[in-house]
Amino acid sequence: MTALLETRSLSKSFGALLATRDVSFTLEEGARHALIGPNGAGKTTFINLLTGVLAPSAGEVLLKGHDITQVEQAERVKLGIARTFQINRLFRGLTVLENVYMAIAERVGAAPDMFRPAGKRQDVIDESMELLTRLKLADIAHKAIPELPYGRQRLVELAITLGLKPQVLLLDEPAAGVPSAESHIILDAIDALPKNIGVLIIDHDMDLVFRFAKKITVLVRGAVFAEGTPKEIGANPDVRAVYLGQAAHG
Ligand SMILES: Nc1ncnc2c1ncn2[C@@H]1O[C@H](COP(=O)(O)OP(=O)(O)OP(=O)(O)O)[C@@H](O)[C@H]1O
Ligand SMILES: [Mg+2]
Repeated sequence: MTALLETRSLSKSFGALLATRDVSFTLEEGARHALIGPNGAGKTTFINLLTGVLAPSAGEVLLKGHDITQVEQAERVKLGIARTFQINRLFRGLTVLENVYMAIAERVGAAPDMFRPAGKRQDVIDESMELLTRLKLADIAHKAIPELPYGRQRLVELAITLGLKPQVLLLDEPAAGVPSAESHIILDAIDALPKNIGVLIIDHDMDLVFRFAKKITVLVRGAVFAEGTPKEIGANPDVRAVYLGQAAHG
């Protein structure tokens, strides 16, 4: 197995609080990996370190063996690291299709400017619609974001992230706010991705986590507490004591 994304002794402190403690972690090529742990365990902070939103206090981040610790956020996106945010970050004045169009246009270098109005490249429109169809959003392509229920907005965010065609996909609570009857749309969309893409999901929905993951890392107080297959993690009494006992099952 090839390591796609890797951290070595990564730490991050916020003043006196050590939010990430000496985390050495590997996301393999083709990984279907979940990161779980109690509220405040440092899961989002860890994703922020991977994406360059935050700079670590110590340690390294490597992409395919290259040290990217000092590489800034926008550059990491270009290198193929994409993420969704725990909080909604859509252009609320635009339609669903326009939101996805913008992301794909940016990727293919067809971003609109003042001389070239948006929404004109047919190939970009086609790819956007294909993606929306995959996420069961095609029927609402022309709706404005504020008209949509929150769960649908989260799926639009996922569409935008997939539109970047990432090598590494980092999903911070993609199912939060999505009705559980629709969470399969997220997993189906991941299933439809090229197999070599590495996917890391953070979620508190253990039903989703255990359906999705081939490997699970448990983070507690910023440090790796346990790591293994879903079977190993599910059967680990220490993990059950610190987290699984209180986490949502379904
Ligand atoms: N920018 C910041 N400044 C100061 N403290 C922060 C900052 N970001 C996060 N923290 C703190 O770091 C710790 C880890 O937070 P983080 O958001 O990474 O947890 P989490 O595992 O994602 O939690 P949740 O499951 O609730 O989303 C928390 O104690 C949080 O209050
Ligand atoms: Mg979080």
